[in-house]
Amino acid sequence: MSSSLMSQCVHIFLAATFVAMSGVHGGNFYRDFDLTWGDGRAKILNNGQMLTLSLDKVSGSGFQSKNQYLFGKIDMQLKLVPGNSAGTVTAYYLSSQGPTHDEIDFEFLGNLSGDPYILHTNIFTQGKGNREQQFYLWFDPTKDFHTYSILWNPQHIIFSVDGIPIRDFKNLEKYRIPFPKIQPMRLYSSLWDADNWATRGGLVKTDWSKAPFTASYRNFQAQACVLSSGRSRCGSGGNRWFNQQLDVASLKRLRWVQKNYMIYNYCTDVKRFPQGIPTECKHP
Ligand SMILES: *[C@@H]1O[C@H](CO)[C@@H](O)[C@H](O)[C@H]1NC(C)=O
Repeated sequence: MSSSLMSQCVHIFLAATFVAMSGVHGGNFYRDFDLTWGDGRAKILNNGQMLTLSLDKVSGSGFQSKNQYLFGKIDMQLKLVPGNSAGTVTAYYLSSQGPTHDEIDFEFLGNLSGDPYILHTNIFTQGKGNREQQFYLWFDPTKDFHTYSILWNPQHIIFSVDGIPIRDFKNLEKYRIPFPKIQPMRLYSSLWDADNWATRGGLVKTDWSKAPFTASYRNFQAQACVLSSGRSRCGSGGNRWFNQQLDVASLKRLRWVQKNYMIYNYCTDVKRFPQGIPTECKHP
């Protein structure tokens, strides 16, 4: 073996060891995802570095992760449908399967050119959701890629945008609120038409003359515990995310977002819950 080939092998070996140990995983869409629907409307480009979904009058499209995760910190950069995206929804979420499934949702509701997208979030535990919070963003999400992250560990589910936390759902099992910690989840994303509700509650319809609508994805990163032959493997070392919670500075940013950009919070929707707001809302 030539010495340069030898050093290359050592290099590859070290790189592989590092990946296994840290559980960090820089993305390649071919390796990490399956295109699940849309008959060619979902595309992997640039040697696996980029993925696009598109929607036209006939169909939307979607993909899902090959891996199933049981806790993790998942980051993805998205650039949303530009221009007139009214009526379209780009969903990006973790979900398990079955009638008592758990789910952690980001959904981006499109709008007319120049009008703001809504970032819709929800959390299902054991098949029950109804925990919507909605936000405007502090930037135009169609101009550039921005990072949307889900941190899911045994104590918290934290949604972040460009590293700024926007929502923290805590483990409140001590108050008998179920927390997702048993069912592994896959990552899913799809682009579809929801013009019966998405934009201004369904008032603004999809303008099909602007189709196809396209959303783009890049830089998928998962630091996660991955299910393999029925066991969850987190790797050792580098799992700071597993015990992570919001520090003082992050809490301050969370409050800034909630004060200035939150436009709906189920916890304050007293009309919706005449028998009293959900228990978790009493322990923010
Ligand atoms: C769309 O724009 C209108 C007008 O600014 C706004 O009320 C609405 O919240 C925006 N977003 C969606 C998804 O409807």
